[in-house]
Parts: sequence; C-alpha cells; structure tokens
Amino acid sequence: MMRIDIISAAPDLLESPFQHSIIKRAQDNNLAEIYIHNLREYGLGNYRQIDDTQFGGGAGMVLMIEPIANCIENLLKERDYDEIIYMTPDAKTLNQSTANQLSLQTNLLILTGHYKGIDHRIREKYITKEISIGDYVLTGGELAAAVLVDAVVRLIPGVIGDEQSALTDSFQDNLLSPPVYTRPADFQGMKVPDVLLSGNFKKIDEWRSEKAFERTKEIRPDLLDNE
Ligand code: 6GU
Repeated sequence: MMRIDIISAAPDLLESPFQHSIIKRAQDNNLAEIYIHNLREYGLGNYRQIDDTQFGGGAGMVLMIEPIANCIENLLKERDYDEIIYMTPDAKTLNQSTANQLSLQTNLLILTGHYKGIDHRIREKYITKEISIGDYVLTGGELAAAVLVDAVVRLIPGVIGDEQSALTDSFQDNLLSPPVYTRPADFQGMKVPDVLLSGNFKKIDEWRSEKAFERTKEIRPDLLDNE
C-alpha cells in the first residue's frame, strides 16, 4: 500500500480530485492512502500566519519556514519518506519515467507552494525532489500535485482494471498513441482502417507501431531524439 501525504495552504483545491473514479477506487481498495494536511494549522500566533514578505523587497508573499518545518517534522515523527517532493515551476518537468519510479515507492510527502514560493531553506533542508508539471505558471502547486498523484497512483498494480493498459499508454515507450476507433465501422462514409477489422493481430500490431511512430515524428519529434 502506498501512502501519500500532501501539505498545502489551499487544501480545498485537493479534496475533489481524489474523490473520483480511479484514484478513489485505489483508496477504497487499499492500494493507496492520500492524506491532506492544512498548512494553516501550523501557522504562527493567533492569526495562524503562514506567509510573509520577502527579504530584499519585491512583490508577493513567501511561505514561512517554521509552519512548514513544524508540519514536516510532525509527519517525520510517524514515518520516514522515500521522497519529500516540492511542486514548483522552477524544477525539472514531470515525465513518465519519473512517474514510474515514484509508483514503486511506499511513502511520499508532497509539499505544494503558493504565492511567491517557499523559504529556500526548506528546500535545502528537507526536499529530496522538485517537480514542475510544465513550462507555464499556475497560481499554486495544488493542481500540479493532483496531476502528479494521478500519474503515479494509476501505475500502482491493481489500480487500473485492464492490467495491460498502463503499460501500453502513450509515452510509456516514448511514443504517442496510435489512432483508436470504435463502432460504427462506417460513419457517414468515414471508414475505420481495414486492417483493424481484419482480425490479423500481427498486421494490427505492425500498423499501430507504424502510426505511433508517424504521429510522434509529426507532433513530438523531440521524443525520438532524447533516447
Ligand atoms: Cl508545480 N507549480 C506552479 N505554481 N506552477 C506550475 C507548476 C507547479 N508546474 C508548472 N507550472
């Protein structure tokens, strides 16, 4: 069973994504446990302060070191983590290989930033891995964390019904998926490729590989370069 703890200053953003479909079923079937921790509960003083202006000046609030450190230390008293991950746009971007690696772990702790970021000393002291989900800016790391958790949890054996399907995903072999079709075989004269109706599975596999390669070359040639 994989356990994922997520620390967030906007925990409401994380409630809904994990209460549906496959990720919910993973939790119901005891394949994954996901716990969300509200950073505000570790805030300082009567106002439960969690952020402050940055030293040196500049716009935007920075998440303070003490609330985050207290929350992480609290969790570390209970268990060790295989990775303590900080979701931030100034990091390497998430790919299938990272998701595959993380899906083999037992305890993950994910920290999501908000506002301008977090005190850098947290990154130096606790964070073992930093992940961005792409070259664009989100208001916070929560939606990025939801993306990461979805990408990881669906790879845990038993989470996806069809055992084959996670392994044959687009990207699993650095290729985009071939086109797929279902009934009807003829929609207003638009026909499904004959080979798919042929029942010749060797031919079908060959056709799919060929199309996967063609589409990758056309849409994402960069995937073919960095082997
Ligand atoms: Cl992890 N956080 C934020 N705020 N923006 C992002 C991101 C993360 N990944 C891409 N954009």
